[in-house]
Amino acid sequence: KTKTAIFISGRGSNMVALVEASKAADFPADFALVVSNDPTAAGLEWAASQGIDTLAVDHKTYGKDREAHERAIDAELRARGIEFICLAGYMRILTPWLVEQWSGKMINIHPSLLPKYKGLHTHERAIEAGDAEGGCSIHWVSPGVDDGDVIAQARVPILDGDTPDALAARVLKEEHKLYAATVRQILTKK
Ligand code: GAR
Repeated sequence: KTKTAIFISGRGSNMVALVEASKAADFPADFALVVSNDPTAAGLEWAASQGIDTLAVDHKTYGKDREAHERAIDAELRARGIEFICLAGYMRILTPWLVEQWSGKMINIHPSLLPKYKGLHTHERAIEAGDAEGGCSIHWVSPGVDDGDVIAQARVPILDGDTPDALAARVLKEEHKLYAATVRQILTKK
């Protein structure tokens, strides 16, 4: 199995979906570590309750030196033999340095149908634009924000009177399925 780290910044529902999927005997990833830049991220407690190693590296202790923060994380990943990274609601923009270190070995889930709506407030922007559909994308992480090659997408309808929260909830259900299925596919091929 591919020793894989999940990066989170908050509640970690995508992390939960990945870990639950990995309980199948034939799942190709071993989620050996959950990393957060926020020591208070709720998802860390859940991961620990599952017996998964957790690592909080608070970006605030590094001031403006983003790369120093990432070098500290990277050293831990190497020390633990991590081979692959799934970003799952990790809300820091990565430096080109870290992206380069993990080129071809790091994927992200983003709550829009890329290339539409990179960045934040994706659901609000899709509704305001009058789009008929929203969704989520899994992509390779490249130096540009939310800019790497798309691997897989899932679509949901945008309904009359939808709020960003209602649409986010509809998309999130698809995120959970798509992320597990995509990791299975990518790492089974390797
Ligand atoms: C998810 O919707 C994910 O797609 C999004 O944050 C949420 C995290 O939820 N990611 C981004 O916006 C990345 N820029 P979770 O912590 O419950 O998985």
